[in-house]
Formats: sequence, C-alpha cells, structure tokens
Amino acid sequence: MASNAPTHHHHHERSVWSGKLAFILAGAASAVGLGNLWRFPTLAAKYGGGMFIFTYFVLAFTFGISLLLLETALGRHTKLSVIGAFSSLRKRWKFVGVLAAAVPFIITPYYCIIGGWVTKYLASYVAQGADAVAVDGFFTSFITDPVFTYVFMLIFMLLCLGVVALGVKNGIEKANFVMMPLLIVFAVGIAIFVLMQPGAAEGAAYYLIPDFSKFSPELVINALGQMFYSLSLAMGIMVTYGSYLDKKESLTQSVASIAGFDLLVSFISGLMIVPAAFLALGLAEGGTMSAGPSLMFVTLPAVFNGMGGAATFVGIVFFVLVLFAAMTSAISLIEACTSIVQDGTHWSRKKSLIVTGIVLIVAGCFINAGYNALIWIEPLGPGTQLLDFFDFLSNSVMMPIVALLTCVFVGWVIKPKVIIDEVRASAKFSLAGAWTVMIKYIAPILVVAILVWNVITQFA
Ligand code: PHE
Repeated sequence: MASNAPTHHHHHERSVWSGKLAFILAGAASAVGLGNLWRFPTLAAKYGGGMFIFTYFVLAFTFGISLLLLETALGRHTKLSVIGAFSSLRKRWKFVGVLAAAVPFIITPYYCIIGGWVTKYLASYVAQGADAVAVDGFFTSFITDPVFTYVFMLIFMLLCLGVVALGVKNGIEKANFVMMPLLIVFAVGIAIFVLMQPGAAEGAAYYLIPDFSKFSPELVINALGQMFYSLSLAMGIMVTYGSYLDKKESLTQSVASIAGFDLLVSFISGLMIVPAAFLALGLAEGGTMSAGPSLMFVTLPAVFNGMGGAATFVGIVFFVLVLFAAMTSAISLIEACTSIVQDGTHWSRKKSLIVTGIVLIVAGCFINAGYNALIWIEPLGPGTQLLDFFDFLSNSVMMPIVALLTCVFVGWVIKPKVIIDEVRASAKFSLAGAWTVMIKYIAPILVVAILVWNVITQFA
C-alpha cells in the first residue's frame, strides 16, 4: 500500500507554474499580507525592536523554512492538494488533510471582510480625501454599517475570484507579477517618506536597536506564531502550490527565497509603521501599539492626516499597497479552497470555483453580520465578534494542530526519506540530517508550546 503514485481521474491537466520564479512569487504573494503589514510591526514594537526582529529571523530560517520545504515537497510528491496528499500516502491520515483543508475555508471569509475594509478606505481616500478618513469614529461607524460592509467585502471577493477564474498561469501569476513589485516599491517609498518626518529617527531607533531586556519565552512564542501565520503554513496552501511545481525546479532555493521575501516585507513594514506610530502613540512614554485593526484603520490615517498636503496621496498609496498585499493572500486562499474542492469532487475547475465562491461569500456574510445584525454574539467574551472567534480558531488552534500532525506524519509515519528524496530530485540537500531532527523532534515541541500558550492566554 501507500506511497505509490496517486491515481488521477482528472479529465484535464493539472495546472503548472510557468517556472520557478512564478512559484517563488506566488509563495511570497501568499505569505506577504496583512500579517506583515500590521502584526509584525506591532510585535516588533512590543518586544524590544531589534531583539524581536533577530529572533524572528532565526526562527524563520530554521523552523519556518523546514515546514515550508516539507509542505511544498509533499504537494509536489503527490501532485495533489492537501486532502489527497495525505490520503494518497496513508488512508488513515486523511483526517489531517481534511483538518488542514478546513483552515483556508475558515480564514478566507474573514480575510475578505478585512479586505473589504481596505477597499473602502482606498475608495474614501480617493473620493473624499484624508480629512474625511481621519474623522473620529470613521472606522467604527463603517465596520458596523449593515449595507456597505457587505458591498465592499463583495467587491474585494469578486476581484480575487476574478483573478483565480483566469487560472494559475493567466490569472494568479500575472496578477502577482504586477502587484508584488509595486507593493515593494510603494512600501519602500512610504518608509522613506515616513523616515523623513520630524521625530521619525527616534522611532526608527526604537524599532531597530535591540532591547535585550525584552527577551523572554513570550517573545519567542509570539515570534513563532507570527512566523506561522506569515508564511501561510499549515493550511494546505503551500501543499497546493507545490503540487503545481515542475519536478526539475529546486525546492530548497525556492523556499529560501519565499521566506526571505516575506521577511524583507515585514522588515520594511516595520520601518514604515513603527516610526509613524511612535510619536502618535507615545511609545517612548510607555504607550502601546494596538495589535488589532485600529493601528491600520485609525492610528495611521490620523498620522497621515498630520502630514499636511501630502496626506491624501500618502493615504492612497498606502492603501493600494495594503490592498495588493491582502489580495494576493486572499487569492492564494481561494486557490487552495478551489483545488481542494476540485480534487475532492473531480468537477471542472470552473464549477469548483463557482461553488467555492458561493460558499465563501455566504460564510463571509455570516461572519460580517457579527458586526451588525449578530453583534450580540460575543464568542470570546465581551466586545469580541465572530471574526475574532474564527481568527482564534483557525490561527491559534487549528494551525498548530495541523502543523503538529503534519510533522508527526512525515517524521514518524511515512518517514522523512519520502520528502528528502523529493527535494533531492531537483536540488542538493546537504542539510537533510538537520531538517530531519527539526521535523521529528524540535518542530513538534515548538508547535505544542504555541498551542498551549495560545489557549492559555485566550482563556486565562
Ligand atoms: N500570510 C498572510 C499574511 O501574513 C496571511 C495568510 C494567512 C494568507 C493564511 C493566506 C493564508 O497576512
């Protein structure tokens, strides 16, 4: 049994990337998202700037890259999306694939709600200018709006669904080739602009200079959790993306580039956001930067508005950048969902996408109702919404469980050799020994630590 080639009943060819660069860009496009733009800077500001950046860097290039390699190799080895990837190797482990597949179905709807907020902000900057957006209460009154939140969520979803509908090569690849370079250029541009503002140097120093006294187990756990989310791990995306990669392309180089790209964008985001928030929030005097949406949707518009004549322009460029980051991540989520449906049903890609799209839209409307019609549901305590609950469920609970089971599956059940051989099919893999130790021992321990921490901090 097991590990024989998966059976293909497809009446059509499986999509393939046009090359390694397209694969790297797609992986990076999935990884670079709201997590880089708002979570990373917030965590870095909280945990001693350079100290956090350094820890994150070390973890990303050991633990993160190992899991990235595992997932992409698993996808390429089986040529299936995540459920099929597990069940084709060991029937009884199909449930891990199912669990992993559930994650993008949970994340996509609420990610698109936030995507809708970004779309709304961009539209408001364009139509009304910076003053209107910086008005007190703008954010709260918008997210509780019983009509326009749905409209903007739908606009955002339809944009992303449209790209996925054009296919892997004609849609996703092309969109990434346009959006990713622009995203970098805009982020660097805004970072430079922010750093030229009076007082920004102090904020940059706060971000960059390590404060060793802030080092703690809590910092490490938070860096780990951030890395997970940021690299889009443990939800089948990288398995699916790996399944579209040709056997001759190097996996080791590809995953190193994806992680590097992701880290670079996180670092630049910090340079752009921490100094901007530094003075506005009085970080030096012990003020804190909110990890939640208020940083991006309340603090920054206020900071921009203080910049005088350039405010509207800066706001537009900033929200285009955020929109691109959110779109490319949402596209990867929708693609993962679609390929799961397609591999599970053997429907055509088109039919799979339509059904997936409808399911995601309905789920999005439901979660969005948590801000208006269903605001009385407070799943995680007073003041929390459905969105918070699904975010907690997927990121803090399901992803660590999936990661743990994935490591156990590869490390102890099918054995690391299957993956190592897949990697060696197209690249030198001299670190295979270290990688094996990581997957069998270190990663499971780290992942359990994250899970326990997440649950305790949520409910304690
Ligand atoms: N990695 C993305 C980010 O940092 C988020 C994401 C999570 C994207 C899950 C896809 C899937 O924002």
